[in-house]
Parts: sequence; C-alpha cells; structure tokens
Amino acid sequence: IKRVTTHVIQEMKTRGEKISCLTAYDYSMAGIVDAAGVELILVGDSASNVMAGHETTLPITIDQMIYHAASVVRAVKRALVVVDLPFGSYQGNSREALSSAIRIMKESGAHAVKLEGGLEIKDSITRILSAGVPVMGHLGLTPQSIYKFGTYTVRAKEEAEATKLLEDARMLEEVGCFSVVLEKIPSSLTKLVSESISIPTVGIGAGPHADGQILVIHDVLGINKEFKPRFLRHYADLNTIMNDAITNYIKDVKSSSFPNEKESY
Ligand code: KIV
Ligand code: NA
Repeated sequence: IKRVTTHVIQEMKTRGEKISCLTAYDYSMAGIVDAAGVELILVGDSASNVMAGHETTLPITIDQMIYHAASVVRAVKRALVVVDLPFGSYQGNSREALSSAIRIMKESGAHAVKLEGGLEIKDSITRILSAGVPVMGHLGLTPQSIYKFGTYTVRAKEEAEATKLLEDARMLEEVGCFSVVLEKIPSSLTKLVSESISIPTVGIGAGPHADGQILVIHDVLGINKEFKPRFLRHYADLNTIMNDAITNYIKDVKSSSFPNEKESY
C-alpha cells in the first residue's frame, strides 16, 4: 500500500480532489477507518471529550495524547496520522512547543502535529517546522480557547475576525504548514480562504468549499446520540446497534442460552 504523505494531500488540492479525514483514538477503530480509505486520520484532543468524558479538551495531557497516538499508528497502514498538541504543551514558548512536538513524533510514530491558533503561535509553528515536523494549522473555533470565546457558536461572522482569520491562514501557508483546519466558520469565508491559499483547507462545520472535510468518528457513527449540531451527518446508528447487541447478550446469559455446547470446551 502506498502511504499518504503531506505531498499527496497537497497534490489532491492541486487537482481538485476532496480530502477525506476522520479522527481515531485507538487501535481497533483506527484500523477500520484506515482500511476504509480516508487520507488523513487525526488523533484529536477531542479524545478528552469522547474517550475520557471531559466537558472540554483542556484536561488531556501530552502523555495521554501519546498513548492514543501510538495506538492509532500501530493500526494504520495508509493514512497520514496527525496528532493534536494538547492545551498547555505549546503556548508557553517555542522551545516548549518544539519539545512537545518531538515527544509526540518520537514516542508515537505519528507523521505530523496540529496546533490551534494563528499569529500568536507563529514562533512555535516555525520552530517545529524547522525541525522537520509537518504542521497542520487550526483556525476559527479553536476549542482549547473555549473559556475565552464563552460558547461553541460559529466564529468569524464579523469583518474584523474574518480578516484576522484570512491573515492567519496566509501566515500559516507562508511559514510552511501543509494544511489548515477551519472549524465552524461561515461557508463564504471558507471559500475565500480556500481560494486565497495554496495549501489544503480541511473543514468542520465550515461548509462545502473546504478542500477536505473532517468529523469526529464517534459522531459519524452515531455512538453518542445527544451531540447533534447542524454541521454533523450521522452515517450510522451504532448506539442502537450496540445497545441491541448488548441487550441480546444479557438476555442469553440470563437464560443460560450462552454459551451453548459448541461454544464450550
Ligand atoms: O480534536 C479534534 O477532533 C479536532 C478536529 C475535529 C478538527 O481538532
Ligand atoms: Na482538536
């Protein structure tokens, strides 16, 4: 199998082929996601929410991200594996950012890292890139700043914030990021940014004009039913399927129909 590299992702934008991306946090799920053929798998700090049950992405640690990332890398044969630098591991200074990125690359075997923010973290991004580590940017709704924003509503609806976002995207392209996530911004702004920079944009809640799309795998599969923002499409109802299976198992145990003779030694 030919591996997807950052160059492959770039070529896809150049020829106008959309980039499909999903998150994964463990070996079993990553193997399924990779075999299905997505180009990029993100080990997102959304693991803090969907794997650990935290309300925000802030609590997850670099050691926990490395555990998830190493598990994903062991399963993936084709996709590009990108790992989120967690909150607190890169905002202090560029040295700290570089050592966090290096830890993630060495200890997980991932192929790239993702950082939230624009101009404020330019030095950190530049330093990580100069060490040869590919960087994906992340603009718009950046969940690590949720206590600054106050809500998870659409970002950059106002002119000033939209202008800054476009400048940040241009900066990310200029310093050498291979791609940028645009989260929860107006469709028209995604179109403008995607046409203004040569590196691929990957949208989530950002409309159809991004060069690629990403969603959290648990949301795509309908594992947690309560979370249903309008940008999400459920491709399965695994919650119901899993509940039915487990209910049947319980029934069979209670009635002593499991295990049967053939299932015993
Ligand atoms: O952590 C995450 O899952 C993300 C994406 C949804 C872009 O950052
Ligand atoms: Na994230």
